[in-house]
Order: sequence, then structure tokens, then C-alpha cells
Amino acid sequence: ELEGMWTITPSGRFGNLMGQYATLFALARLNKKQAYIFPNMANSLSQIFKLTLPMLHQEAKAQVPWKNYHIADWMDEKYKNILGDYIKLSGYPSSWTFYHHIREEILREFSFHEYVTEKVNLYLTKITAQRQNVTFVGVHVRRGDYVYVMPKIWKGVIADRNYLEKAMAYFRNKYKDVIFIVTSNGLDWCRKNINASSGDVYFLGDGNESEPQTDFAILAHCNHTIMTIGTFGFWAAYLAGGDVIYLTNFTLPDSPFLKVFKYEAAFLPEWIGIAADLSPLLNQSLNV
Ligand SMILES: *[C@@H]1O[C@H](CO)[C@@H](O)[C@H](O)[C@H]1NC(C)=O
Ligand SMILES: *[C@@H]1O[C@H](CO)[C@@H](O)[C@H](O)[C@H]1NC(C)=O
Ligand SMILES: *[C@@H]1O[C@H](CO)[C@@H](O)[C@H](O)[C@H]1NC(C)=O
Ligand SMILES: *[C@@H]1O[C@H](CO)[C@@H](O)[C@H](O)[C@H]1NC(C)=O
Ligand SMILES: *[C@@H]1O[C@H](CO)[C@@H](O)[C@H](O)[C@H]1NC(C)=O
Repeated sequence: ELEGMWTITPSGRFGNLMGQYATLFALARLNKKQAYIFPNMANSLSQIFKLTLPMLHQEAKAQVPWKNYHIADWMDEKYKNILGDYIKLSGYPSSWTFYHHIREEILREFSFHEYVTEKVNLYLTKITAQRQNVTFVGVHVRRGDYVYVMPKIWKGVIADRNYLEKAMAYFRNKYKDVIFIVTSNGLDWCRKNINASSGDVYFLGDGNESEPQTDFAILAHCNHTIMTIGTFGFWAAYLAGGDVIYLTNFTLPDSPFLKVFKYEAAFLPEWIGIAADLSPLLNQSLNV
């Protein structure tokens, strides 16, 4: 029987919540404690996933004598021995270093409700039409606030059209009949910058940031993934489980981002990184 009550403060958006859930699940397991999730985390994630962690009752949430415990964005030996029966973790962990050793269980936590899978399959069947043996590549292009946060705050860049072109070429060369499904919180930019003339690119949805679950479910059902930056793309890739192309080395050496982010803790070793073009940043700093 597991003792205590451990939880994690939900912060950020969908991909962050998944990272927080997986990290809580793994660390509570290591420390032999019972984990519970906040109602708003349950509300967001259980819309599509068959989660098993119980939800904290509102009353318990208020009355439990929580001890706050901040965790970094990657695993550390000391997290194997966190003392306390009422730990409330906080932070933005997403790194596979916390939970990859129990990958099967994490994937089971994030398995989709049947109604979601049925909806996704209907969509995929519709775009596949008469073609046999199509290879689906989910493409997640993170834009939105990152368009300015990355260069201005983190001394970094986000994915540009060249990156996406190279990543797509990889899949076009490797597989016969590829279909790219592009999701983004900047879909207009994608329509302008992704060359869809060969007829193998589908732009998905309305880019509605408040309803990410549908986009996520479709990406995760694809065979392979092109991600850019951010935890949403990471999780889609982790669940899809095929080949993954990611943007790497997207920060200057003195970026403050590197204090909270480690490339090697963020991306699995077998995934394929394409280095970002940092020249826009360098030109910008020369101009200042
Ligand atoms: C289906 O496509 C995959 C990937 O391109 C290929 O490896 C496989 O041989 C194909 N199978 C058939 C039956 O054509
Ligand atoms: C888009 O790709 C096609 C080949 O599929 C190429 O002929 C065309 O020049 C490309 N367009 C742009 C704007 O790069
Ligand atoms: C986005 O989703 C929210 C929540 O379902 C809805 O209220 C809003 O109207 C949607 N926005 C767009 C542009 O579709
Ligand atoms: C590719 O993904 C589709 C949709 O989820 C699935 O039906 C198919 O079995 C997958 N193909 C392979 C080779 O895994
Ligand atoms: C990213 O930078 C590291 C450290 O400089 C280097 O070892 C690695 O090869 C780079 N990755 C790519 C894909 O260029």
C-alpha cells in the first residue's frame, strides 16, 4: 500500500501538463508514495487520455499540509529520496530522464479514449482516400508567443522554413507515400512558408490554442513526427513513437535558456536533430 499524498502544481499549457503528470507519476513511484492530480490538470488531460491517477478533492487540496518542492527540468539522483508525506512538486519538468525507464506505463497513462481514436481514424481515412499504405508524418510548428519570446528573452530562434524543408525531405526520401499533417498555433505562417505544391501536405484545424486536444490526438496517431520546439511537439513525438526530427542548438551559447534546458535531457538519443540557423540572432546583435 502506498502512503502519503503527493501532487504537482499544474502550470503552463497542454504539453507542460503532460510533462508534470509524467514526472509526478515517476517520482511518486520511486519514492513509494500515492500521487494525486489537481482538478484542472485532470480536466485538461482526461478529455482525451485514460489517466489512472486519482484527482484531489477540493477540500483535501486546501487542508493537506503541503510541503513545496521545486524540481529542475531533468532528473537528479536526489529526487529518488524526497522526504515527506505531503509533497507538492512544482516546476516545468518534461524531460524523458524522469520517466523513460517506465515508458510503457507512461504511454498507458496517455492512451486515448476510444472515442478520440475513432475520430482521428475517420479523419486520417478521409485524407488517405484510395491510397494504400500511406506513411503519416505529424508536423508541429510552435509559434505564438515563442516568435518573440525566443529571440528577445532566450537568445534563441524558432524553426524557419529551411528547417521544415529539410525535415520534410528526410521523410519524402525515406518513405514512399508520405502525408504531412501540419498543426501549429501559427497556421497562417505555415501556409505561407511550407511548400504544399506536391499535394502531400495537409494543414489541420484553425490553430485554436484553447483547444489543443484534437491537434494533439492527430499528431500522436501519426507514424512519425517533425517537431520544432516546446513540450507539445515533444509529447506528440513520444507518443507517436516513430522517427522524430527535432530542431536543436537553437540558442546562443550565453542563452539564459540553457540554465533551465538541456538538449540531451529534452530529446531522446535516437531522435534526429537538425541544427537551427542562428544567423538572424547574430545579425540582430550586430545591428544593435
Ligand atoms: C508500406 O510502406 C512502408 C514504408 O514506406 C514499407 O516499408 C512497406 O514495405 C510497405 N508495405 C507494402 C505492403 O507496400
Ligand atoms: C515548391 O515545390 C515545387 C516542387 O514540388 C517546386 O517546383 C517549386 O518551385 C517550390 N516553390 C517554392 C516557392 O519554393
Ligand atoms: C476556440 O475554442 C474555444 C473553446 O472551445 C471557443 O470558445 C472559441 O470560440 C474557439 N475560437 C475559434 C477561433 O474557433
Ligand atoms: C501508421 O499510422 C496509421 C494511423 O495511425 C496506422 O493505421 C498504421 O498502422 C501505421 N503504420 C505503421 C507501419 O505503423
Ligand atoms: C549541437 O551542438 C553540439 C555541441 O556543440 C554538437 O556536438 C552537435 O553536433 C550539434 N548538433 C547538430 C545537429 O549540429
